Amino acid sequence: TFVVGENCIKCKHTDCVEVCPVDCFYEGPNFLVIHPDECIDCALCEPECPVDAIFSEDELPSDQEAFLELNAELAEVWPNITEKKEAPADAEEWDGVEGKLQYLER
Ligand code: SF4
Ligand code: F3S
Repeated sequence: TFVVGENCIKCKHTDCVEVCPVDCFYEGPNFLVIHPDECIDCALCEPECPVDAIFSEDELPSDQEAFLELNAELAEVWPNITEKKEAPADAEEWDGVEGKLQYLER
């Protein structure tokens, strides 16, 4: 599966959802997740993210391992998203900021 990692939090550009052939992105208040049982590993979304927040499970940085479980958990409760929407106004300021997990809204 592919996994949405920490840098999506508060950036949430949503370019990723437009290319997913199986529509397996789910949307929370300031973060998106991929449903691991629905993702077909096509890799199309990975280069679409302007802040490089998407990883294949095999390439997920070791300090982001919690995001594997987090994607699986939140994909079960958040609504599906298939159309791009405007990113938060301050998205660019949050690109690359460390320790964003504490800001994750559910
Ligand atoms: Fe969708 Fe393909 Fe990305 Fe999986 S790898 S989330 S199927 S675009
Ligand atoms: Fe997040 Fe990147 Fe998609 S910021 S919403 S994973 S395009």
